Amino acid sequence: MSALRLRELLASRGRAWPAPIEALEVVASTNDALRERARLGAPAWSVVLAAAQTAGRGRSGHAWASPPGNLHVSVLLTAPVQAEARPLLPLVAGLSVAEAMGEFGVEARLKWPNDILVGGRKLAGVLAEGSWGGAGRDFVVLGIGVNVCVDPAALEGRATSIAGEAGVPADRLVVAAAVLARLFDRLDELESGAQRTLLDAWRARSVAWWGRDVEVVCGAQRVRGTALDIDEGGGLVIRLPDGRRETILAGEARELRLGDGG
Ligand code: BTN
Repeated sequence: MSALRLRELLASRGRAWPAPIEALEVVASTNDALRERARLGAPAWSVVLAAAQTAGRGRSGHAWASPPGNLHVSVLLTAPVQAEARPLLPLVAGLSVAEAMGEFGVEARLKWPNDILVGGRKLAGVLAEGSWGGAGRDFVVLGIGVNVCVDPAALEGRATSIAGEAGVPADRLVVAAAVLARLFDRLDELESGAQRTLLDAWRARSVAWWGRDVEVVCGAQRVRGTALDIDEGGGLVIRLPDGRRETILAGEARELRLGDGG
């Protein structure tokens, strides 16, 4: 039922979705479910979405709250884009989600690598999980979570939702159609070699932290410096306290505020 409606919503935007769409009521994680389908040979652009997740995962091993009404969707990319453009996939996915939010009256910003924020609070996130270069099939699962309807007051001020920002409820399937359509177009651009355009679009939506001090945590490593830019491969370029430039490929970043010393 939901899958059919999503397909119709996509079709009404002129986008005949090219692969199976599976809509589940509850699943542990749509990323895990889709990875399983990928191993069994599911075609590129296969989609799994769920009304709720019992073990939703965020980046860096964090749990992702996944109550009914929010959007939890995963998209399968097989043999995804040329090798050198692959590191940009998570950024381009984040960009697509942020752009789609505009359809609901929400002006979202991006925090490297792909947090989607409004006023510093988290609206949506992307978890890209890949399997390539091994004996099996090459694929990437892009998992996207959007807080559609949760009351921001219930989220302790760290997160927000479309309903909370726009003041009107949104339908998660309408949000799914907007996100998937935008993602399809932006990934098509990536495939056609439009990296520079995409990076510029990403920069234009970034939180305004260039020139400010940030901290990036990657595993046990913690790096502090001044945020300068993102590079061609989507890495975060920072200036270290000793003046050297360093490009960070992955991690959790935050802006340092006065009083964060040490
Ligand atoms: C983040 O930490 O910002 C990424 C959150 C990604 C959550 C989505 S919800 C759909 C998919 N399934 C998961 O278990 N995680 C992703």
